[in-house]
Amino acid sequence: MDDTDDFTSPQSLPAWTALTAHARRLADQPLSAFFANDPGRANRFSLVLENPTELDKTALIADFSKQRIDDKTIADLIRLAREAQLEEGIQRFFDGEALNFTEKRAASHMAMRGGCPPPSNSRMDTRAMRTFAFDLREGLLTGSTGGTIRHLINLGIGGSDLGPRLAVEALADPRGNIVGGIELARVDFVANVDPRELDTVLARADAATALFVISSKSFNTPETLANAEVARQWLTSQLGEGIDVSAHFAAVSNAFEAAVAFGVRPDRVFPLPDWVGGRFSVWSAIGLPLLVTIGGMFDDFLVGGRIMDDHFRLTPLEQNLPVWLGLTGLWNSSFLGIQSVAALPYAHGLRSFPSWLQQLEMESNGKQTLRDGSRTETDTAPIVWGGAGTIGQHAFHQLLYQGTRRVALDFIVPAGESNNSRQRILVDNAIAQAAALMVGRDFDAARAVLANRGLPAAEIERLAPHLICEGNQPSTTIMFPLLDAFHLGALLALYEHKVFVQGWIWGINSFDQYGVELGKEIARALASGETGEQDPSTAQLVRLSEEFRQQIR
Ligand code: F6P
Repeated sequence: MDDTDDFTSPQSLPAWTALTAHARRLADQPLSAFFANDPGRANRFSLVLENPTELDKTALIADFSKQRIDDKTIADLIRLAREAQLEEGIQRFFDGEALNFTEKRAASHMAMRGGCPPPSNSRMDTRAMRTFAFDLREGLLTGSTGGTIRHLINLGIGGSDLGPRLAVEALADPRGNIVGGIELARVDFVANVDPRELDTVLARADAATALFVISSKSFNTPETLANAEVARQWLTSQLGEGIDVSAHFAAVSNAFEAAVAFGVRPDRVFPLPDWVGGRFSVWSAIGLPLLVTIGGMFDDFLVGGRIMDDHFRLTPLEQNLPVWLGLTGLWNSSFLGIQSVAALPYAHGLRSFPSWLQQLEMESNGKQTLRDGSRTETDTAPIVWGGAGTIGQHAFHQLLYQGTRRVALDFIVPAGESNNSRQRILVDNAIAQAAALMVGRDFDAARAVLANRGLPAAEIERLAPHLICEGNQPSTTIMFPLLDAFHLGALLALYEHKVFVQGWIWGINSFDQYGVELGKEIARALASGETGEQDPSTAQLVRLSEEFRQQIR
């Protein structure tokens, strides 16, 4: 396949020109005006994912009606998708074509959840990993001194950390991993090479019952390998010099030899196919900590993802959730000039969702070189950030209300149990924030607020400008019944496919990450002392860091 043969830059498509003109027409209209003239808008601009496993039940709804869109915007965005041959792209994606064209391989992570076949001639056997996870969960694994393994410590970074960390936080029983009165393995994550993170976990760990999973697709990531080395030294120091500590290690990696060379037993190196990218890997053996945490419910997680795959593959663009999520995001980024997206999950269990999404979107689509090697003429991935509601309301929402920047917002809202009053407060807040950030408060409303407080007229005039909130922050609200394994799977797959839609239309490769190599190279050179030519600032920082280290010796 030569992807440059059929590549047309998105700006040269007729729909792009139409959207550029239309964006100018819509840019200054207040969002609430879209509703004033169009009462059916909320319903028309909401898409639903039915739950095929429980008929009559809605799995998930996405309400796009608070976006700066009208019927023409959606029609033109869908026209753009068709002109960019998105439908063919989706087909080729699910057929396992080598759409990761720089690295010449498929991106078939959907195969890990049954959403597509694995690429031809490839193996995808997770049985050994599953048996291992269930043995660990059920207390059937022992350490080198005979103690039952009760503590899994995942050593990994990026995609080898963020996905499983998010999923475990979302789905672990808050009372602990207890089944039938028996405490199953505790799970911790260590990503940072800052000693403090691993030290904190080790301080509460018992070497006799701890197991380290070295999660690294490449088995070549310095932070992870440095932590793994410290873990090995710690085990030896705790269990006794000369003792074989291999019973305390497993690895998830595509680099079998390197893992074995480190000292992981061959039957404990669980493979991760090269067609599963790190940031798409939670469905694979990288999900081992999740499997240990939720056992059989891991399959519900996979089913949730698979249902989103089927929806994405089979649903016309006009009704297709990931397509709309991708297109409205692209509209904000490429046509309305919105530089930033805040992910606002209203669920403590989803507090790491913004970090997971950051890697997914920014590492996938934070690129500027197009399929034909030319440079993009439009902005690509926005800056993704965010945090859990309602925490953010008491911190950064001020900027969303009265700052100078337009920020697109994704509210992620599990509705939760109906008889839980605090859960209701949470959900009411999510709904209220989406409304308030759209409607805002004008000068008259600000004066009315102050008048209600009984302030004198002069004080009202003085303070009113400070109460004005422009509103007009566009948002999408994604709501689903419950934060369980099934809905989490559907949510994560929804965003994965959003990234595909955008990358495809922008014409970039969403599946490589060459950019991150540059900083790694310089860090490697610093570590080895072979710094070569350095700019004066870098040289100064190297010298100062050494001086500071000397001070605390
Ligand atoms: O440096 C970026 C990156 O390669 C990510 O793409 C990846 O998820 C992370 O590092 C960890 O990589 P590995 O699983 O190979 O250790």
